[in-house]
Amino acid sequence: MNPSLLSAPPSSNPRPLLSFQPFRFSPNYHPRRRRYRVSFPRNSLATDDQSPTSTSSPETTTTSPDIFGGPKDLTGIQPLVEKLTPPARLATSAVILAGAIAAGYGLGLRFGNNRNAALGGAAVLGAAGGAAVYAVNAAVPEVAAVSLHNYVAGCDGPEAIKREDIENIAQKYGVSKQDEAFNMELCDIYCRFVSSVLPSGGEDLRGDEVETIISFKNALGIDDPDAASMHMEIGRRIFRQRLETGDRDGDLEQRRAFQKLIYVSTLVFGDASTFLLPWKRVFKVTDSQVEIAIRDNAKQLYASKLSSVGRDVDEELLVSLREAQLKYKLSDELAKDLMMEHKRKLVEKNISVALNILKSRARTVGGVKQAVEELDKILAFNDLLISLSKHPDADHFARGVGPVSLVGGEYDSDRKMDDLKLLYRAYVTDSLSGGRMESHKFAALNQLRNILGLGNKEAEAIKLDVTSKVYQKRLSEAFQSGDLEMADSKAAFLQNLCEELHFDPQKASEIHEEIYRKKLQQCVADGELDDKDVSALLKVRVMLCIPQQIVDAAHSDICGSLFEKAVKEAIGAGVDGYDADIREAVRKAAHGLRLTREAAMSIASKAVRKIFVNYVKRSRSAENRTESAKELKKMIAFNTLVVTPLVADIKGESSDTPSEEPVKEEEKQFVDDEWESLQTLRKIKPDKDLIAKIGKPGQTEITLKDDLSERDRMDLYKTYLLFCMTGQVTRITFGAEIRTKKDDSEYLLLNQLGAILGLTTTETVEVHRSLAEQAFRKQAEVILADGQLTKARVEQLNDLQKNVGLPGPYAQKIIKSITTTKMAAAIETAIGQGRLNIKQIRELKESGVDIDNMITESLRENLFKKTVDEIFSSGTGDFDEEEVYDKIPADLKINAQKARGVVHDLARNRLSNSLIQAVALLRQRKYQGVVSSLNDLLACDKAVPAEPLSWEVPEEGCDASVLLDDDDSTGFTGEKSAGPNANSVRGFEVIDSIKTQLETICPGVVSCADILAVAARDSVAALGGKSWTVQLGRRDSTNASFSNANTDLPSPLMNLDELTSAFSNKGFTAKEMVALSGAHTTGQARCLLFRNRVYNETNIDSTFAKSIQSNCPSSDGGDNLSYLDASSPVIFDNAYYKNLVNKKGLLHSDQQLFNGGSTDSQVTTYSNNPITFYSDFADAMVKMGNLSPLTGTSGQIRTNCRKVN
Ligand code: HEM
Repeated sequence: MNPSLLSAPPSSNPRPLLSFQPFRFSPNYHPRRRRYRVSFPRNSLATDDQSPTSTSSPETTTTSPDIFGGPKDLTGIQPLVEKLTPPARLATSAVILAGAIAAGYGLGLRFGNNRNAALGGAAVLGAAGGAAVYAVNAAVPEVAAVSLHNYVAGCDGPEAIKREDIENIAQKYGVSKQDEAFNMELCDIYCRFVSSVLPSGGEDLRGDEVETIISFKNALGIDDPDAASMHMEIGRRIFRQRLETGDRDGDLEQRRAFQKLIYVSTLVFGDASTFLLPWKRVFKVTDSQVEIAIRDNAKQLYASKLSSVGRDVDEELLVSLREAQLKYKLSDELAKDLMMEHKRKLVEKNISVALNILKSRARTVGGVKQAVEELDKILAFNDLLISLSKHPDADHFARGVGPVSLVGGEYDSDRKMDDLKLLYRAYVTDSLSGGRMESHKFAALNQLRNILGLGNKEAEAIKLDVTSKVYQKRLSEAFQSGDLEMADSKAAFLQNLCEELHFDPQKASEIHEEIYRKKLQQCVADGELDDKDVSALLKVRVMLCIPQQIVDAAHSDICGSLFEKAVKEAIGAGVDGYDADIREAVRKAAHGLRLTREAAMSIASKAVRKIFVNYVKRSRSAENRTESAKELKKMIAFNTLVVTPLVADIKGESSDTPSEEPVKEEEKQFVDDEWESLQTLRKIKPDKDLIAKIGKPGQTEITLKDDLSERDRMDLYKTYLLFCMTGQVTRITFGAEIRTKKDDSEYLLLNQLGAILGLTTTETVEVHRSLAEQAFRKQAEVILADGQLTKARVEQLNDLQKNVGLPGPYAQKIIKSITTTKMAAAIETAIGQGRLNIKQIRELKESGVDIDNMITESLRENLFKKTVDEIFSSGTGDFDEEEVYDKIPADLKINAQKARGVVHDLARNRLSNSLIQAVALLRQRKYQGVVSSLNDLLACDKAVPAEPLSWEVPEEGCDASVLLDDDDSTGFTGEKSAGPNANSVRGFEVIDSIKTQLETICPGVVSCADILAVAARDSVAALGGKSWTVQLGRRDSTNASFSNANTDLPSPLMNLDELTSAFSNKGFTAKEMVALSGAHTTGQARCLLFRNRVYNETNIDSTFAKSIQSNCPSSDGGDNLSYLDASSPVIFDNAYYKNLVNKKGLLHSDQQLFNGGSTDSQVTTYSNNPITFYSDFADAMVKMGNLSPLTGTSGQIRTNCRKVN
């Protein structure tokens, strides 16, 4: 063997072994790095062509004597050295050395003639002698190695090798085991041996390999580290072979060989193997792969050990198995699994035999016995294992001793379940073959169920089935033999029978019932139960102890269904077919089957009601009332002609004498009263003539009371009633119809219908009355169209009432409800239109009109507000606290506290408005108006005493200053170019055009300020808003304030607080601000003013933001316009507020009004209530228009709004 192979990396591109990571050889794998000359003569690891015929038998490890090779010859000086014992070798060396020195000295003296020459000669020959001595000694270990080899090769077998002999050889040559050549030979021998012991790739381990290797290792006396490195060498060799072979099968074999090597080596070196065998490092395998190698081989060995174990297990065998398991280093868990599997396999053999017998075509009683015997073998084996598992020494036994189970094996599948059930059934049948179930068999059955892995339910079902049959057999024997009859207590007899068979008494009772039912069925086969049948049945009942209710149930079931059949046949014959034969059959069935009258009636009722319901269904699906009534009529006929005689037959009565239901006294009285007025109701009460004409009334016992709801039944009745009233309507072509008047006999049918529907008299009356009411109301509404009740109308209504037959109180109630509703509507409209004030309301109340219920609360509140508003604007200055706070709220029935709040709000609002108004009127020199306004102010002050009012005259107000153009020539800078207005305020040319026209017609009279105020109002009205009154007389300013326009106008970037304060600075409340902002329901704004909002703000609807962004790019287009209210840009409505609620305010300032702050609720109110908005907006606009106007001689009337005159 080429030693370089040992240190050379096996391959630069190896394939994984054991599916490991690529193998990389590490030359430094062992601390004692040596070069071994190791040869592998024959070994079972080798592939076939490399290995000579193996002499090992599968059972035990034997090694061929020639595994170590033939004897080796000595060469060169080795034979000489071999002959010298160590002392002789020492003496010879000394003689050679001394002789050489002496000879050298002599020769030097002789040829040099002086001492120096002699010494030189001695040195030269001495050195040569020394070299010879060294050569002799150096050859010693090799000679010893050859001697060792020849000794081993010469032994009869590895077993014959003795440690003393090897030590003697070392001693003989005076070498130690560490001497390289000697050591190498030892390693070579060990390596050859181990290789020969390990079975080749395809073969399994035999189990004795570890012991064989350990004893050989001991005999050789090789050190563990040396031995271990030989194991690693063998591993390398397997790797190389794998690379050389290269095919799939070879690869697999070598992988297995490697696994075996790992396993055996680990066991050989025991605990030290972790240090001595660096598999992971050298072969790059993982821990788990090493574990798998150990586990798989251990399993294989243990399994092969188990394979010889049969059903005759004993303690000794179990102990030896346990020892083997420990020796093989197999985990308890796996050992247990293997044992379970082995037991199962043994049992499966019996199962298979038993099944073959049971399933064979030629199955005989003996065959079944045989199958049962197989099962008994299994049970015996199972018992043995269970008792062994409870043995005191069970700890020392193999793992997995205990009950057997087929779970997890070849019979553990749904497919095989039927086979197992077959076996179980056979065993149950066999256990009961003696007519009873022995206790031990009962226990055995439980064991068998567990072994077979049958579910409790399945096993019980089989047991029940088999036992039931046996029970029935025993019962019939007891019957026939008379044993049962003779028994003193039948119950005890039956109980005992159950116990003997381990049979559930409940199931026994079910069998008894079944027997009884069968008997009953036989008895009624001829359609009748005669006395003989009755006594035979009684006997069965007594013998089998069957409870009465079971018997009753069986009778009503079996006899009932026979009776039902008879009834159905009778009904099925229909109106024409219910003849004498059928009647006879019904009578026979009803009485011959000995059904109770209730039971028979209940059966008949069920069948009849089904037919009734079908009629009802057809009636409901009919296309018109006439057709629908016709179906009901058929039902009535069916009731009269079929059901009525049927009921009589069941009851055994003559149908000629109908039993009349007694009407309760109280109800009768009530009905009698009603008869008087309701004509239709009167008609359903039959008079004698009619009875004689149409025959007897139908039965009333079977009704649809429980099948249909009360409402449905009343509806059906109503349908027929209308049919009775209107007659039959026949439609002919072109939409015309012919009405056929019905005679009063229809009403009698209606009466019968009421009975079939199970309607009580009260319910019937109810239908008649509601129909009459309906008719009355319809016509009364026409008469009372305007809600006025005149004398003539009263008479008209009286006639109508009589005509319809509606009782007086009902008619009165209807009249009242009509007049009240009409009046309420009229009053509401009057209040809404302002035609009704508190005074008139009071009058109405006094005349008994129920105002509180006629007018809604909100309308009453509005009326209150309006009344107070009128007081505050009456110009009188009167404020009667009692009247306002108590009386009016009481008359309008509104909450006094709430009323007080309304008064305060109004007063506060009016207070400053009145003052502003007074000042404005003063400037217009309307003194009467000034007094009125001041009176109003005083009235408000009485309601809410105010702080002393301050009156600062602002510099700018509603004075058209905003219209003045900048004038470069004079250096005038007005408001137009101020920041908030520049490029923003638009439409000056509209004002110009109005002004020009006015100046033409009426020069110097109408100021630009008035034009602006009116134009604002009229644009709002033109766009659909509400108009308001604009007080006129403003004059135009001669100046404008650029700086005030810059500071005072609110900015679109302001937050709610800032906006509120900007408006407050001009005397406006937050509420007025919100109302005024509604002006943004129209108009447009520039992109630069809302760009930040649509790109960066979060309180904005994303779809809305995107749509605006399309016209407002993030950088350019600052002047692009977007509608402030995109949903209805040119309509003055409340959409602006709806937008805010939906986060669709365009300006930052807009959305501030609805952003979780104090103004949210007002925005919500306006968004829901446009009227409130219009009204508040108008009020605030008036206020804004009256903001410090110039009057009298102040200012001027400009000729051109853009310039001062
Ligand atoms: C709450 C404070 C207010 C702010 C911050 C505000 C701001 C604005 C802004 C930035 C514009 C767009 C101007 C432009 O793009 O050039 C605008 C337009 C408009 N504003 Fe206001 N405004 C407010 C109150 C009001 C009030 C009280 C009214 C009237 C009662 C009103 C009536 C209008 C009208 C009609 C337009 C449209 C003008 C046009 O389309 O040419 N605004 N407002």
